[in-house]
Amino acid sequence: MAEKKPIKITETILRDAHQSLIATRMPTDMMLPIIEKMDKVGYNSVECWGGATFDASLRFLKEDPWERLRKLREGFKNTKLQMLFRGQNILGYRPYADDVVYAFVEKSIANGMDVIRIFDCLNDLRNLQAAVDATNKIKVQEGRGESQIALSYTLGDAYTLDYWAKMAKDIEEMGADSICIKDMAGLLTPYKAEELVKTLKSNTKLPIQLHTHYTSGVASMTYLKAVEAGVDIIDCAMSPFALGTSQPATEVMVETFKGTEYDTGFDQNLLAEIADYFRPYREECIASGLLNPKVLGVNIKTLLYQVPGGMLSNMVSQLKEQGAEDKYQEVLEEIPRVRKDCGEPPLVTPSSQIVGTQAIFNVLMGERYKMATGEFKDLLRGNYGQTVKPMDQAVIDKVIPNEPRSTARSAEATGHTEPELESIENEMKQWKQQEEDVLSYALFPQVATDFFKYRMAQQEKVDLSVADTKNGAYPV
Ligand code: CO
Repeated sequence: MAEKKPIKITETILRDAHQSLIATRMPTDMMLPIIEKMDKVGYNSVECWGGATFDASLRFLKEDPWERLRKLREGFKNTKLQMLFRGQNILGYRPYADDVVYAFVEKSIANGMDVIRIFDCLNDLRNLQAAVDATNKIKVQEGRGESQIALSYTLGDAYTLDYWAKMAKDIEEMGADSICIKDMAGLLTPYKAEELVKTLKSNTKLPIQLHTHYTSGVASMTYLKAVEAGVDIIDCAMSPFALGTSQPATEVMVETFKGTEYDTGFDQNLLAEIADYFRPYREECIASGLLNPKVLGVNIKTLLYQVPGGMLSNMVSQLKEQGAEDKYQEVLEEIPRVRKDCGEPPLVTPSSQIVGTQAIFNVLMGERYKMATGEFKDLLRGNYGQTVKPMDQAVIDKVIPNEPRSTARSAEATGHTEPELESIENEMKQWKQQEEDVLSYALFPQVATDFFKYRMAQQEKVDLSVADTKNGAYPV
């Protein structure tokens, strides 16, 4: 047998899997009872944090995401924790000054994070440098923390093998520890994956991780070819929250490579116990409607229109609100045209929403670019950074006539060049109970404030109930 080269696995059930299938609603209490077992599997890392998990924790679950991170850190004694980070936007929707990026990275690692996967929706690497530098700084100081830069994978004239190869070299030069191919829409087909992995491997010494979604139905075959081509790590989800718009199933990939040079050595009995734990929760989510069986099938439109699964469902609900569901097909066809007009960016948060919403406007108004969203204008102004291809001049002239356009990285294009953490802290002082609260507020000002109010009410209630227990009174 050939030399052993066990494929490494990042488990996504605590982040992307439930984000993709149940709108990121898995509460911490659902996670904690099983993490001791998960810690024994031998995962390369467990992905457990990101923009949506952070936002949904505060907004819907009324949980402190930092508290979740600390609890997971406590339970995962042997396994690295991993998060997804939107470059200069951190976990939010606007670019932040570098001091906020540094503070967020520092607090994430201090609270237990290990691997920070950083991406930019335009693949403008300048928007990733601050986060990489911040991670490297902490790594030197604390001996912990890894930066991984993700290529937002997409299709289009500009996205040749040479383009990806150059990016890989640039990423290595930026000082990242590894590279991820982030295929958020499930566009990467098996033989394309083989080609891409081989190309990256021959252009960089950095480990390559592959992240894809099952949306178009090819994902496990894609992993097979990618592993044979030398990819180092694959992202998988435990079977109860795998497939559909989520990742390939962990157990299936483990079984696939059993007895080969890529054998993970994972214990299927242990994996079965973990799956048994999550299965009733899956059933519960289906029964309550939180998990819509529609997202579990194969959606081949994602390949035809290169639209990520999450973007499709967003689009359907936006059209429903407008009473314009009959325009679905027209909007679907408009999306690639809008994408071309604005420099053919990858479609991932936030460019996916920006392009999708503009496509809806174009169709519903009956005239293209009769109206444009603020975000679309910002994209044309260069406020998100540079796109790989030039934008359409006629569209620029119509949407932002005679306006200056920036060629700087996003933080500079939007004027976030001076430190801003202190002024953010001043804004929210009255709610601050820990340093991390300042960062929660920085990312989601309104949502965090609502959470802080809720937290205060809970704390007061707890005090009251303790005091009143003697009298047999229980405040509601
Ligand atoms: Co994903």
